[in-house]
Amino acid sequence: MSQLIAVGHYVPERRLTNLDLEKMVETNDEWIVQRTGIKERRIAADDEFTSDLCIKAVQNLRERYPSALEGVDHIVVATMTADNYCPNVSSQVQAHFGISDCGATDLNSACSGFVYGLTVAHGLICSGFNQKVLVIGADAMSKIVDFKDRTTCILFGDGAGAAILESAPTSDFLVSYTSTQGELASNLYCTGLSETIGPNRRVITQNGREVFKWAVSSVRKGVGLILEKAKMDASQLDWFIPHSANQRILDAVCEKLGIPSDKVCSALPYSGNTSAASIGIALSEGVLDQKIQQGQTLCLYGFGGGLTQSGLVCRLHQLN
Ligand code: UT7
Repeated sequence: MSQLIAVGHYVPERRLTNLDLEKMVETNDEWIVQRTGIKERRIAADDEFTSDLCIKAVQNLRERYPSALEGVDHIVVATMTADNYCPNVSSQVQAHFGISDCGATDLNSACSGFVYGLTVAHGLICSGFNQKVLVIGADAMSKIVDFKDRTTCILFGDGAGAAILESAPTSDFLVSYTSTQGELASNLYCTGLSETIGPNRRVITQNGREVFKWAVSSVRKGVGLILEKAKMDASQLDWFIPHSANQRILDAVCEKLGIPSDKVCSALPYSGNTSAASIGIALSEGVLDQKIQQGQTLCLYGFGGGLTQSGLVCRLHQLN
């Protein structure tokens, strides 16, 4: 079994406000706030990449939990914006911290990545293959955003969230739900070596309306399913921590599921959509603010490119 024992996060110093965006594309603060709930996002420096964001999130974790990195024997990094095709980001993190005898896996499930990362880490520990796994969700979305495209550049920001899972007699992780609809991939993509999905623009390209509609109906259904599997109803959750895509998506999902807005933990207004990082950032900030505490029950729910979804219901035994 596995339990969460430590969290950390990092967002870059540079702020990109809605007023800044007004000077770059035809948009305005009122439209962005009304349609998305986002007031500003953080943008990595020109020479700051996803591995740097990961390293800074782990530094934050180590400052808060000084011995937590000791004995880490696998690193899982969830990202769609790796610095390089090779080496993977997890190996860059391993090298920076000088962690020996440690596996390194990158996975790409876009905005669902952090929850997929936790799910994989839980599996590695439950199998007995690993004892302590560092999971990081990180994305430098500003490196793949077209800042001339007003339908996407208003949404995304950069950041990283980190967590450590350790082998334990009882599990924090009660129920998991994963799903993907690859046939809908062309609604949200960034091309790599081929153009099989759409024109090779090497920037994040989306059909915002379609993603919006898909997210509202799929997330509502997925969260309903995971709660059913956990034999719980929404009122038994202390916190719902969804991927921070758009406030209107979250409001619509929560309204249908009966989750009050004061039970939603999200970093959306001041970080924007940070893709694989958003849930880890919200979790880490929530613990820092002492909102999220040991003994509480959480539902983490990621959704996005793929189009992927991944949810976990957890009860925190140790994390503080
Ligand atoms: O992690 C998952 C990643 N992706 C998402 O979460 C995307 C989900 N989708 C969304 O968040 C929303 O669809 C957007 C925020 C992208 C767009 O909001 P919307 O309410 O769906 O707007 P829309 O696409 O229906 O466009 C409404 C109008 C259009 O003008 P007309 O045709 O009505 O004259 C757009 O051209 O708003 C216009 N518009 C803008 N106006 C001011 C589109 N973008 C902007 C903008 N500023 N930035």
